[in-house]
Amino acid sequence: MKLLSVVAAACAVGYAAAASLFSPARPPAIPLAVKSPYLSTWLSVGSDGGSGGYLAGQWPVHWTGKTTAWSGMIRVDGTVYQWMGNPGAPNADQVSFIYTSTQSIFTFIIEKKVQLIVTFLSPVTPLDLKRQSLEFSYMTVDVSSIDGKTHDVKLYTDISAEWAAGEQDAIVEWSQDDTRHTAYYKVSRRDQIAFSESDEPDGNGMADWGSIFYASDHGRLLTQAVGQDSVVRGMFKDRGILNGTFDTQFRAVNDRWPVFAFSHNIGNVGSQAFNARFTIGLTQRQAVQFLGAQGLVSLPPLWTNYFADELEALDFFHNDFTNMQSISTDLDRKVAADSIAAGGMNYLAITSLSVRQAFGATELVGNKDKTYLFMKEISSNGNTQTVDVVFPLHPIILYTNPDLLRLMLDPLFENQESGHYPNRWSIHDLGSHFPNATGHSDGSDESMPVEECGNMLIMTLAYAQRANDINYLKQHYKILQQWAGFLIDDSLIPANQLSTDDFAGRLQNQTNLALKGIIGIGAMGEIAKLTGNADDAARYSSTAKSYIAQWQQLGIARDANPPHTTLNYGNNDSHGLLYNLWCDQELKLGLVPQEVYKMQCDFYPTVRNKYGVALDTRHTWTKGDWEMFTAATCPPSTRDMFISDLAAWISTTPTNRPLTDLYDTITGDFPGVLFTARPVMGGTFALLVAPATPFQGKKRAAPGAVDLGGTEGTGASLRRKRNRRLQ
Ligand SMILES: *[C@@H]1O[C@H](CO)[C@@H](O)[C@H](O)[C@H]1NC(C)=O
Ligand SMILES: *[C@@H]1O[C@H](CO)[C@@H](O)[C@H](O)[C@H]1NC(C)=O
Ligand SMILES: *[C@@H]1O[C@H](CO)[C@@H](O)[C@H](O)[C@H]1NC(C)=O
Ligand SMILES: *[C@@H]1O[C@H](CO)[C@@H](O)[C@H](O)[C@H]1NC(C)=O
Repeated sequence: MKLLSVVAAACAVGYAAAASLFSPARPPAIPLAVKSPYLSTWLSVGSDGGSGGYLAGQWPVHWTGKTTAWSGMIRVDGTVYQWMGNPGAPNADQVSFIYTSTQSIFTFIIEKKVQLIVTFLSPVTPLDLKRQSLEFSYMTVDVSSIDGKTHDVKLYTDISAEWAAGEQDAIVEWSQDDTRHTAYYKVSRRDQIAFSESDEPDGNGMADWGSIFYASDHGRLLTQAVGQDSVVRGMFKDRGILNGTFDTQFRAVNDRWPVFAFSHNIGNVGSQAFNARFTIGLTQRQAVQFLGAQGLVSLPPLWTNYFADELEALDFFHNDFTNMQSISTDLDRKVAADSIAAGGMNYLAITSLSVRQAFGATELVGNKDKTYLFMKEISSNGNTQTVDVVFPLHPIILYTNPDLLRLMLDPLFENQESGHYPNRWSIHDLGSHFPNATGHSDGSDESMPVEECGNMLIMTLAYAQRANDINYLKQHYKILQQWAGFLIDDSLIPANQLSTDDFAGRLQNQTNLALKGIIGIGAMGEIAKLTGNADDAARYSSTAKSYIAQWQQLGIARDANPPHTTLNYGNNDSHGLLYNLWCDQELKLGLVPQEVYKMQCDFYPTVRNKYGVALDTRHTWTKGDWEMFTAATCPPSTRDMFISDLAAWISTTPTNRPLTDLYDTITGDFPGVLFTARPVMGGTFALLVAPATPFQGKKRAAPGAVDLGGTEGTGASLRRKRNRRLQ
């Protein structure tokens, strides 16, 4: 039970909310294998079509909502139960679900005889690029007897070809073989179309190229079969073992649904757990098309730099479980400890659910000399490296490894510094559709000039401060100055334009957008100072200071009760989340007076709805990422209001999608706009990157004073409780 005690220790801190079936929360969707924009399979949970959080009975889905059938059955003393998906057996009885930052753990008790623990581990290893580059995920299954007797146990799992193609009528091919440590299936679309996604009504999302692998430990207990779903599953249900049949008729995904099955013929199981390991993943030889300094190039995924071929990569990953698990568990522990200290158990429910979602939208590409971290915007559209999506994502990147932020900014600088973008302001994204980062040589990208200039200046300084990389600032000084110059012209009185919240429409004189631009100028002042450009530093800093003074006159409804900043200048009845204020705190610019922070943090509780504070007065919806940016600027009382409202929303929203950052603060539902599984949820780490500094004269209250009782009991006592449950 070594594995279990490691998991138990990882979960212990997250376990204070025990009594309920779900810990630390019941999320709208549960990550199963979430590792890259294309390897992204979830269990949908929310009442709006989800399973309620039960692994058995409903098929896992890709983030687009398309089924990626993945089944699990167990035969105990001759009786068959299903524990994942819906292969057509009675459901096994699920007794708990726990999530950490990298793991989703389901526990079942079967007929009071046998305990089954199914753990999905999608490793997140931001400091270890070799491991992070692999687009594979684990499922481990532990079976043990709990009634003191031994039981005859057989374990089954399969995947369908839906994993390998977005369209059900696409023809797929497959093979099976062994590597040193695995028996595996490889399933691929017959017509490989590099860099293309299948066009489905529900939005693009699955890759038209590459291969899906499903692997397990080989050995004398393993039996296999490939064939029509009903035949293969029927074979296990009837006999508990697979006869090795291998269907050679390559065909469409939905033509007599071929499935690829493993069964571990375990036999007698006592109190000593039997452990089976499975690896699922995607390999592609080409990852991204990029228009950079060398012109248009096609870049391989970074793992191709470390491994001769996909089989070597698969074999390494499968056999590396102990390391992957230990690195991931360290991250789980760090996120848990830091989150609880910064905002209590409710905050941990939010941060730990965001980790796989945030990293799952990214992919490491290139080679060891020139590595890039590319990102897909995911559902709101498929844009590559959207600057105002990298921005809300960047807190989790800074928290886990600031160097990765450079790998995200690099392609943006490289494209624009090579003359591939004609506008004075910063580009909005590197391509209209991932995995194409082919830029916008005609300058006709979605225009968010103030937003993106501010974002680039802020993130570049944030990276340089945390990585202590002054050279990076020198290297990009020229274009940073160009963007700062644009902001000097256009940030104090922003023209009619979109902000990042483009779904709300265009508006002139947006108060929060102006603040972003002015902080961008302040950031340029600091960049100039750090690079020894004293005259520039003085000029940018004094402009930023003077703009902030004017902005306070223009953007604050001073006579309102209580006073607050407006959505747009002069519109005194309007308000909104002033989330860009966090950047002043993040960069330690001290540009905005503390009284503005205090005014806002006193104001938010007066406009609180059931599930949080509306983004602005145009709608009742809000954004979870911006709420956490805002919370991070406030002292504990207001901060914890934001945190507990967002955590309550996570536990009760009817949506059954991977965290929808956009949701309604009154109904808890999400507006028709498809905003799901987006990397922006990495913004929930804002509080861990730069917490509020205490307002003058006020002492910070002890952290963790929130609904769930914060740190209830010591780590050791929680660990004991947890171990009791697992044994
Ligand atoms: C990427 O660009 C290629 C042309 O090079 C095109 O065929 C493909 O459809 C594009 N991919 C997406 C997802 O739009
Ligand atoms: C395996 O079982 C299937 C389904 O019952 C059957 O069609 C097939 O002939 C069997 N194959 C072998 C090799 O026994
Ligand atoms: C924007 O604000 C400036 C400064 O107050 C003002 O002169 C201008 O009329 C405003 N524009 C709009 C459309 O409100
Ligand atoms: C809005 O409030 C400010 C400061 O309280 C005030 O100067 C201004 O006249 C008000 N604007 C309108 C349109 O009422």
